[in-house]
Amino acid sequence: MKGIILSGGSGTRLNPLTKMTSKQLLPIYNRPMIYYPLNTLLKAGIKDILIIIAPEHAGNYLNLLGSGREFGARFTYEIQDEPRGLAEAFIIAESFLDNEDVAMILGDNIFENDFSEDIKSFEKGGRIFAKKVSDPERFGVVEFDENKKVISIEEKPENPKSNHAIPGLYVFDNRVSKIAKQVEPSERGELEITEIHNAYLKMGELDVRTFDGDWVDAGTFDSLLKAQIIAKEKLQGGLIV
Ligand code: TTP
Repeated sequence: MKGIILSGGSGTRLNPLTKMTSKQLLPIYNRPMIYYPLNTLLKAGIKDILIIIAPEHAGNYLNLLGSGREFGARFTYEIQDEPRGLAEAFIIAESFLDNEDVAMILGDNIFENDFSEDIKSFEKGGRIFAKKVSDPERFGVVEFDENKKVISIEEKPENPKSNHAIPGLYVFDNRVSKIAKQVEPSERGELEITEIHNAYLKMGELDVRTFDGDWVDAGTFDSLLKAQIIAKEKLQGGLIV
């Protein structure tokens, strides 16, 4: 299994903090933000990791993370020229993945949970996660029936059918790049990852798992503050780098 950390984007909601650096390099307590998703992948035994970054901040990422040897890993870098959506990562990563399965994590997602078993036990199809939140309209939203079977997945719905948000950790098999290439841009001009989820759902191969512990998408001022507190109070003992 290979890994991707998707760490591009423009971080406009964190202006002016993101005028001179990338969101995912901002400090979360005592580490740069990207260290937390990096920890999630490393803990699951993923060592071959593609870091996708925006052109403006590429040099800073190389300075911070380098070859990956310091972390017992191997890092490869690709530039995403424009933030054209999360699903574009699988197109950019196609040659890096070289027909292997992949776990992709967003560079601004911070998890308390250890996903090692969910990642190591993956065999085929797609495996994503769901967490109850108070503001599901900010995320992809999954609706379950009474038997926990997935009925629908919608991207940032105005009227969410449930409060189960999909966090930024996705495990897919080696068909994902091919599927991503079929995705058409949405109204906001992005290749939406929801389209990938729905493609696997349609094939009957999407596994959606709930999980314990805190999860923060540190993309707003309030969630950035929350991430700092969680990092200080809950994560320090569990970090490996
Ligand atoms: P977002 O928070 O949705 O977007 P953003 O980081 O550009 O922030 P804002 O909306 O405030 O402008 O992105 C979620 C994560 O995915 C974040 O780590 C950035 C990354 N991302 C990319 O790398 N490429 C993309 O095309 C998009 C849309 C996001």
